Amino acid sequence: MIHHKPVMQKKILEYTAKYAVIKTFCDCTIGEGGHTEFLRTHLEDWKFIGIDKDDYIIKIAQKRVGSDVVIYNDSYINIRNHYRENIGVFLLDLGLSMYHIRSENRGFSFNRSEDKLDMRFSQNTKIDAAFILNNYSYNDLIRIFTDYGDIKKSDTLAERIINWRKKNIFVSVRDLLSCLNFKRNYEKKHPLTLVFQALRIEVNNELSDVAEFLQHIETIGNRNSLFIFIAYHSGEDRLIKTRIKELLRENKIELFTKHVLKPQWDEVKKNKAARSARMRIFKLL
Ligand SMILES: C[S@@+](CC[C@H](N)C(=O)[O-])C[C@H]1O[C@@H](n2cnc3c(N)ncnc32)[C@H](O)[C@@H]1O
Repeated sequence: MIHHKPVMQKKILEYTAKYAVIKTFCDCTIGEGGHTEFLRTHLEDWKFIGIDKDDYIIKIAQKRVGSDVVIYNDSYINIRNHYRENIGVFLLDLGLSMYHIRSENRGFSFNRSEDKLDMRFSQNTKIDAAFILNNYSYNDLIRIFTDYGDIKKSDTLAERIINWRKKNIFVSVRDLLSCLNFKRNYEKKHPLTLVFQALRIEVNNELSDVAEFLQHIETIGNRNSLFIFIAYHSGEDRLIKTRIKELLRENKIELFTKHVLKPQWDEVKKNKAARSARMRIFKLL
């Protein structure tokens, strides 16, 4: 069963068809393979490759897109360790997949109280969410809830966690739910959504991976490579925007999205998860 709806796929197709020079497409966050499957039906004489950190999700993608798409199990920052030839398009559809939220025993959803507090995309990742909750200092907890969760009362949260762990150990999602004991306010986003987002971003080094990829973009790409970024978190989008400005100043890219692209309302109506998507596209000169 497929869980994730690919976001803004027609825009990706439009810009790829219009601006790509080399007909090799690298889906750097292939997930369940939604984008690759769609694009393959429209870009027939293209070569597709994919990469994803998640050890399990790539099996779903491989089945879906077929064996002639080679999929690597690694971080996109390491793509050049696997594939050396020229690449026409790099797609980075950041964050997590609906697959993660719906999968058992991965710890990504606060609706699965029996799950372990894991939240790792890759099984090779050294720390999980339980480790953070059991070991991080008060200041580090505040940092991740503020920077990655945009939570205003991060200090109150950090205090509750520190107090709770004086007598308990965080193991399952249930432990975090009983520690925070949030009451749902149906008019607003569930506060646990932001707490889970912050922990997940820290566990998987999501912002540092984007930053590292952007830093090395000139050696990862080749002349004329098109880069398509879809960010869902303001911190992530800020990193992309800042690097674009820097590369523009140095005359190293041509920018195709002077204004960030957002999904149309009819897409958001059909797929609520698309609502915070922000797309930026440029080409290396
Ligand atoms: C939004 S989903 C992609 C969905 C996909 N485009 C589709 O249509 O099914 C993001 C994916 O990026 C993967 N991911 C996150 N950080 C990564 C990284 N540093 N390197 C490779 N994959 C990563 C996650 O495991 C997840 O599968």
